[in-house]
Amino acid sequence: MTHQAKDFSYLKGKLKSLSEKQLEEHFKLYKGYVARINLIESELAKADKSHTNYSWGNWSELKRREAVAYNGTYLHQYYFENLGNDGMTPSNEFKAAVDEAFGSWENFLADIKSTALSTIGWVLVCRRKADGKLHSYLLTEHHGGLPVDQDIVLVIDSYEHAFFLDYGVDRGGYIQALFEDINWEAVNKRFAALK
Ligand SMILES: [Fe+2]
Repeated sequence: MTHQAKDFSYLKGKLKSLSEKQLEEHFKLYKGYVARINLIESELAKADKSHTNYSWGNWSELKRREAVAYNGTYLHQYYFENLGNDGMTPSNEFKAAVDEAFGSWENFLADIKSTALSTIGWVLVCRRKADGKLHSYLLTEHHGGLPVDQDIVLVIDSYEHAFFLDYGVDRGGYIQALFEDINWEAVNKRFAALK
């Protein structure tokens, strides 16, 4: 097994924005993606490469779904890792980069919320390699929507499965509350590592 599920159970009871039940259900889903990417990789290793086709072929289908399970695994990992605030705050370097890219911290938060309300899925804050600036992106599926050459700094899971037990259909309320629970130390570290 190449990919191992990480244990994020330490988040239960620690977050103000998400209940233990909500997190438990989400962990189950995350572990499912880890199992799937391991299964896809083991199936690819033995699949017949001569039966490939755009319409259907076992090897082709496994290749088409590979990035779904891979990103389903690692985007969840980014997300859970950047949750859990112990009084940490964004670094001055990160805040300066936010100001440069979004104009102000308030506009950054408004951008993230609006981006989340524009998708059924992921919201990512990345540093684009081409201009060295922060940008927000949305993904509607795990494997689709992320422009190339980006370094991931912050990941927000905005699928309904991430918040429905606690917020119903109130995606905006979830995003608003989640910002109180961002592990800025994790975000600061990712950002500092880019320099
Ligand atoms: Fe999720």
